[in-house]
Amino acid sequence: MKLSIENIHKFVSKNEISALKPNVEKCLKMLHDKTGAGNDFLGWVNLPSQISQSNIADIQAAADRMAELADFVVVIGIGGSYLGAKSVIDALSHSFHNLCLDRKHPTVIFAGQNISEDYTYELLETLKGRRIAAVVISKSGTTIEPGITFRLIKKYIENIYGADGARERIVAVTDKERGAMNIIARQNGYKMFVIPDDVGGRFSVLTPVGLLPVAIAGFDIKKLVEGAADMEKATDATVAFEQNPACIYAAARNALYNKGKYVEILANFNPKLHSFAEWWKQLYGESEGKTGKGIFPASVDFTTDLHSLGQYIQDGRRMLFETVLNVENSKHELTVPFDEENTDGLNFVACKRMDQINKCAEQGTILAHVDGGVPNIHISIPQIDEYNTGNLIYFFEKSCGISGYMLGINPFDQPGVETYKKNMFRLLKQ
Ligand code: PA5
Repeated sequence: MKLSIENIHKFVSKNEISALKPNVEKCLKMLHDKTGAGNDFLGWVNLPSQISQSNIADIQAAADRMAELADFVVVIGIGGSYLGAKSVIDALSHSFHNLCLDRKHPTVIFAGQNISEDYTYELLETLKGRRIAAVVISKSGTTIEPGITFRLIKKYIENIYGADGARERIVAVTDKERGAMNIIARQNGYKMFVIPDDVGGRFSVLTPVGLLPVAIAGFDIKKLVEGAADMEKATDATVAFEQNPACIYAAARNALYNKGKYVEILANFNPKLHSFAEWWKQLYGESEGKTGKGIFPASVDFTTDLHSLGQYIQDGRRMLFETVLNVENSKHELTVPFDEENTDGLNFVACKRMDQINKCAEQGTILAHVDGGVPNIHISIPQIDEYNTGNLIYFFEKSCGISGYMLGINPFDQPGVETYKKNMFRLLKQ
């Protein structure tokens, strides 16, 4: 992974970034020494290097068993119990994997991430006559969205396969000993995986919360963890500020925030990264948006959104900065055909690869946005694969921890998410 902050220096000088170095280093040390707020939720810091091979083998074995039993695996969860797995699976999958007929692995379908009656009804309708299994992911087991969806899916599986068949086909990922899901799983004899006590939902993608669905979808979880472990080393507290990408990213975004750049837009030029941005938005939004502070995390898929939000980014209120997630190499090659008639006037791109055109769009966009007053941070990976996805995941987690401490908030709680629930429960009980 490469990080460049060259295109923020029109807005924030190198000296202003250097001035933040002591604070960044202090915050990084707080994460490692566990001396900051929320220090009982820092299990993710050394998670990649501490996952044992037997842990990974156990997850892989459960995934292989599900693949034997089912063609469709419904993964039920919300928030931190959903977004990580979805982001990795979408990044690594064939863009049209749901339409591909020669699937070697089960199709993972996500549910319980909303309370839409139509979504869930249509899911049950789609499952009819297919070989299915389910993974329910909930630390508490009382979250309403996955809770009611699980009731429906459990009943559906039990009706088809009976209690014994359901026991084989349902896996729970939940708390080690507490919570309703732990009780349900033990009572029903489901295979269980543990969400560590000291890892919060949005930092849990490298636990069974993310690893099990990713393994079921057929991706190499060892490589994912390896990529994260290498980034754990690269962002360790012993690595100097200048060489530590997590420190530089945290410093850059806080320096921009201090200059009134309150919105960070994560931009990709590859639709496979759409869900990765959704995961990133939860990570930063839920970690930093507190006590009236925090950068608002937004995202765009380019070039698609250059034909919509591009106008605002170029010309609207100047409170934005952009972080572009670049993928150096595409998986496949396609060349634009030459057309004798040239009615569309596009022969100037004939014989060029689509990726070459996409890269020119990316460079042109960055230049235009920086000129228009939108500072740019550039993050680049060689290609989308398990290793590089793991690398990015840990990079963003580490930067998020540092960045939250720089803001002076607890990046590891989420008191604000309770307010809507209180109102909803009051209304439901009336
Ligand atoms: O990040 C978080 O803590 C939240 O998004 C939770 O993961 C989410 O609310 C789901 O909670 P649970 O796993 O208890 O169902």
